[in-house]
Amino acid sequence: MIDGYGRNIDYLRVSVTDRCNLRCKYCMPEEGIGDLGHTRILTLEQVHRLIQVAAGVGFKKVRFTGGEPLVRKNLVELIRNTANIAEIEDISMTTNGILFADMAGELKQGGLTRVNISLDTLVDEKFKYITRRGKLDDVKKGIQKALELNMDPVKINMVVMKGFNDNEILDFADLAYHYPLHVRFIEFMPIGNLPFHKQERVMSIEDIQDIIKQEYVLLPAEKIKGSGPARYYQLKGGQGSVGFISPLSQHFCASCNRIRLTADGKLRSCLYHNREVDLKLAVQNGLGDEQLAQLFKKAIRNKPGRHEMSNGWGIENERKMFQIGG
Ligand code: 5AD
Ligand code: SF4
Repeated sequence: MIDGYGRNIDYLRVSVTDRCNLRCKYCMPEEGIGDLGHTRILTLEQVHRLIQVAAGVGFKKVRFTGGEPLVRKNLVELIRNTANIAEIEDISMTTNGILFADMAGELKQGGLTRVNISLDTLVDEKFKYITRRGKLDDVKKGIQKALELNMDPVKINMVVMKGFNDNEILDFADLAYHYPLHVRFIEFMPIGNLPFHKQERVMSIEDIQDIIKQEYVLLPAEKIKGSGPARYYQLKGGQGSVGFISPLSQHFCASCNRIRLTADGKLRSCLYHNREVDLKLAVQNGLGDEQLAQLFKKAIRNKPGRHEMSNGWGIENERKMFQIGG
């Protein structure tokens, strides 16, 4: 379905939980999260039904996110059910990787063909610091497993933060050189009004590229599956690629093809926009599929032309990343 700005909206990001087994400083507060609890989040049956309705409206791609999607029980079943919807051509997931190695086999069998793993540092203590609780080794095992199972593509998301991990940019580029990994460098965004976000921690994509160019020759790459907002480059002689996501310095709203379903059943037509359609309420009120389809269409119609992140934070910023789904 085409929105008011000529964009073909066919990609649904589905957050299946706002819970997470980590507490990344730029995403969640340490305490007092007050997660939604079982009664406020959609059941997996409801999620499945909503994906079916979305497929009828023209959605072809689904990505499961969280919080951390792998902490939601029976997720594999939802993936399997989603894979059985004829119109859905592509199922992916964004995970922190902690539980991935153990579950990868059944996820793949269920129909997951590719995965994005979030990883910001390759140093044990720094990983502990930024996630407040995780073990880097678990994530490494997850990445290895994804490669072993020939998931394609396997993408790594690195949020670049000056003074924290900007000295590891080349190490991450090395990963993309030596392995068939697609490493995406993401500009740090001011989402969720968390104290960890400071302007001096933001590094522009241009500066990140300059560092990589000191060691590598960047060749524009062909489109990588699900490439979305990233611009990709092959590293000359290397196996994988590097990609750059700059929501702020070169925002990509003009080619945005997605809307989001939050764990509590709100359709959010832009990551950084507060306008939401309450699908959970609609389901609870017994609306039929056709009426639900109308609500999807409404969300698409209401999708703003672009975000206003650079204007600083305001009411758009009430939800934190773990509550939206990244
Ligand atoms: N800025 C940039 N990226 C972020 N993510 C979470 N919070 C932020 C932020 N403030 C990333 C996660 C994950 C993806 C879903 O979003 O690291 O890779
Ligand atoms: Fe969890 Fe991902 Fe947020 Fe980290 S960034 S706390 S792994 S949801």
